[in-house]
Amino acid sequence: MIARRVLFVCLGNICRSPLAEAVARKRLADAGLDVTVASCGTGGWHAGEGADPRMVAAARAAGHDLSKHRARQLRERDFADYDLLLAMDRDNLRGLRQLAGTPEQVERTALFLEWTGMAPPADFPDPWHGDAAGFTAAVKLAERGVAGLVERLRNLNR
Ligand code: 4NP
Repeated sequence: MIARRVLFVCLGNICRSPLAEAVARKRLADAGLDVTVASCGTGGWHAGEGADPRMVAAARAAGHDLSKHRARQLRERDFADYDLLLAMDRDNLRGLRQLAGTPEQVERTALFLEWTGMAPPADFPDPWHGDAAGFTAAVKLAERGVAGLVERLRNLNR
């Protein structure tokens, strides 16, 4: 499998997956890899909204711009539009796989931190219910996961 289009999937698409998308976009460009990234949520409650202001602030402090993000819900077409669909936690992975129509599509889904080899934890903790420290920790975890992602994509796409 070659993965030139990667989709990050969380629940609301206002915290974890927009963060992973922004960090990945920057680190993939830094590494000179030609990979397109995007994100969405299994749920549609926040569709059309920007990222959570706490997430935007924590990401900005680390040099990542989430100001232009607009949330959207996962759709069936995402399996055609993306090569690799990475869920932030196991609930998101379940939601993602429920929408997959074929075994080949299921094969292109995985847990973000597991696929990147940067687990534990397998699940990317949702900072939404927590305090500012949780958002800062999420940025650090996203950076670690994305470092693993860049290395794996470098080998996969060579
Ligand atoms: P995310 O966080 O999945 O990382 O974007 C959440 C945002 C909103 C909700 C849940 C998780 N919510 O229930 O509205």
